[in-house]
Amino acid sequence: MADNLNIHQIAVVPEQVTNIFKPLATPSESIYQISLLTLAICGVIFLIVGGLLVYTIIRFRTRSNDEQSEPPQIYGSNQIELAWTVFPILIVFVLILVTARTISDVQNATHPPDSLKVTVVGHQWWWEIRYPDLGIVTANELHVPVSDPAKPRRTVLKLQSADVAHSYWVPQLSGKVDLIPNRDNYMWFDPKQTGLYLGNCAEYCGTQHAHMLIRVIVHQQEEFDRWVLEQQKPAVDNREVTAGRKVFLSTSCVNCHTISGTIAGGKFGPDLTHLMSRDTLGAGAIKNTPNLLRAWVHDPQKLKEGCLMPDMQLSQQELDLIVAYLSTLK
Ligand code: CUA
Repeated sequence: MADNLNIHQIAVVPEQVTNIFKPLATPSESIYQISLLTLAICGVIFLIVGGLLVYTIIRFRTRSNDEQSEPPQIYGSNQIELAWTVFPILIVFVLILVTARTISDVQNATHPPDSLKVTVVGHQWWWEIRYPDLGIVTANELHVPVSDPAKPRRTVLKLQSADVAHSYWVPQLSGKVDLIPNRDNYMWFDPKQTGLYLGNCAEYCGTQHAHMLIRVIVHQQEEFDRWVLEQQKPAVDNREVTAGRKVFLSTSCVNCHTISGTIAGGKFGPDLTHLMSRDTLGAGAIKNTPNLLRAWVHDPQKLKEGCLMPDMQLSQQELDLIVAYLSTLK
C-alpha cells in the first residue's frame, strides 16, 4: 500500500550513465577535447615531477660507505628558478587560450533558423519546459529531435529561474549553464544519437536539489513531430465531465497546476495537460506508474520530502477519483 513505499526501492534507476567521457553533441565534444588536453599536460607534469622524485630518492639514498660529513651545500640557482617560473606560465597561457577559444566557439555559435527553441524555467525542484513556437508546455522531460549529419538540427535552450539559482547539466550534451532569476542564459546542443540522456540540477538550490533530475529524450525527426502533435492536442478527457474531473477542479490543485481547456490555470507547479505522457513524477524522483501516481497525490511529502506540493488531506474516495481523472491525461 502507498503508505509503506520506500523511496530507495522506487527511485528511478538511470538507464544510461551520465558519462562525461562519451560526449554526444558538439558542445560536450569540445569540452571533452579540452579535458583530454588538460589531462595530458597534467599527466606529463606528474611523470616528470614523480620521476625526478623517485630518481632522487634512490640515487641519493644513505649508503653504508657514506662519509659522516655533510655533502656540499648549494644555495639557490637562478637557471632553475627561472625555468620553474617560466614553464608553468607558458602552460597556463596555453590552457587559457585553448579554453577561451572553446568557450567562445560554443557561446558565440550562430544558430540556423530552423533550430528548435525551448525555454526552460528552473523551479524548486522541477523544470518547466516551454516550446514557444509550438505552443507546448510540459515539465522535467525535454523532447528534442536528433541532429543527424545529413540533416543537422539544433536545440537552443533559453534558461530562466522562477526562484533561486539552478544549473542545467546534461553531461553528454553540453556543459553546465546556470539559471539565474531575472536573467536569460542560453545553451545549445545537437544530439548525435537518439535515446535518453540524463542530467541533474548542478547548483545547490535547497532541500530537494538532488531530486531535480533532467531527462532529455532525443527522437528521430518524424517521431518528434508525432510527439509534438500529441502534445498540441487538448487533454483527452477535457470535454467529458467526469466525477474525477469535477473533484480535481473543485480542489486547490487548480491554484498550482494547469490543465489546458479547464479552469485549472495555476503556474506554480508542473502543467498536467499531458501528465501521462511523462515517464516520471516529481522531476524524476519516482516513476510514473498508477500506484506511485496515487501515492504521490496522496502525500508527495512521503516521496519527496520538503517538496512544495502539500499533502492535500484527500479522502480515499477523492483520491481515487482524482487519480482516475489524472490517468486520462494522455
Ligand atoms: Cu535546482 Cu539544484
